[in-house]
Amino acid sequence: MSQKPIRKAVFPVAGLGTRFLPATKAIPKEMLPIIDRPLIQYAVDEAREAGIEQLIFVTGRGKTAIVEHFDMAFELETTMKDREKTLEVLEPTRIQPGNLVTVRQQVPLGLGHAIWCARAIVGDEPFAVFLPDELMIGQPGGKGGCMKQMVEAYEQVGGNVISVLELPEDEVSNYGVIAPGESRGTLTEVRGLVEKPKRQDAPSNLIISGRYILQPEVMRVLDRQEKGAGGEIQLTDAMAQMIGKQPFHAVTFDGRRFDCGSKTGFVEATLALALEREDMADEVRAMARRLLGC
Ligand code: UTP
Repeated sequence: MSQKPIRKAVFPVAGLGTRFLPATKAIPKEMLPIIDRPLIQYAVDEAREAGIEQLIFVTGRGKTAIVEHFDMAFELETTMKDREKTLEVLEPTRIQPGNLVTVRQQVPLGLGHAIWCARAIVGDEPFAVFLPDELMIGQPGGKGGCMKQMVEAYEQVGGNVISVLELPEDEVSNYGVIAPGESRGTLTEVRGLVEKPKRQDAPSNLIISGRYILQPEVMRVLDRQEKGAGGEIQLTDAMAQMIGKQPFHAVTFDGRRFDCGSKTGFVEATLALALEREDMADEVRAMARRLLGC
């Protein structure tokens, strides 16, 4: 089956990042680095690997650093060239003019509202959504990044595709949870969705993990601005209303996910990635042993 290609991705980055205060008072959470790349860079790299061309950032006050990160830094580049330093390290930050668009979410009314703010730029085509604080890392030599795996699934089944992962039952209440239907390999039919359910009401232990491929009709649902859990306009609630009208599937990502919106998840990601880097692994392993006294 041939599906409309996924050319656009929305990155909602207007949240307040309160769990990382005071670090995030003047610096966006998405600019906090895992080793030497800010979180937003990992998400953008994953989008490009999946063939996405246009990046739509939904920003808010104090988020300009994210846009600057992907802008040309003329002074820096000229100085580096003069000092005969290679500019290769800046390569991932280059975006073709016109391929980065920003819109403002003036009040942080929730993730659903942030996505809705991008409706005019998304237009009438399917689009991807990335939550950059969820860091998704493909297996070395494996099937690639999370969105790449999702796009491959989407090419087969069309409609809406979300990424899910299994969590222990007592941890699901902080997340969007799916009611699963039939499964085939890594693909599971989605029969229902609920945001932040009480533990006893959760329909499964499969949580939505920060990556989505959505049909543009979700914007018509979000037009209604209905509030859900926590008084916020929830994307999960809008998606739930698409079930039954369009195909809706979940992909279990073959890779690892780090919740970098939490402090412990952030530390775990830093350590895990450092231990895999050729330029650091030995030193970091020795340091970790020393700290743990083993
Ligand atoms: P979070 O729930 O992690 O909220 O948002 P947050 O503000 O980023 O962080 P904490 O909880 O205060 O520490 C999930 C994603 O949705 C975006 C955030 O930027 C993040 O990528 N978001 C959330 C918005 O863009 N707008 C909103 O109104 C809410």
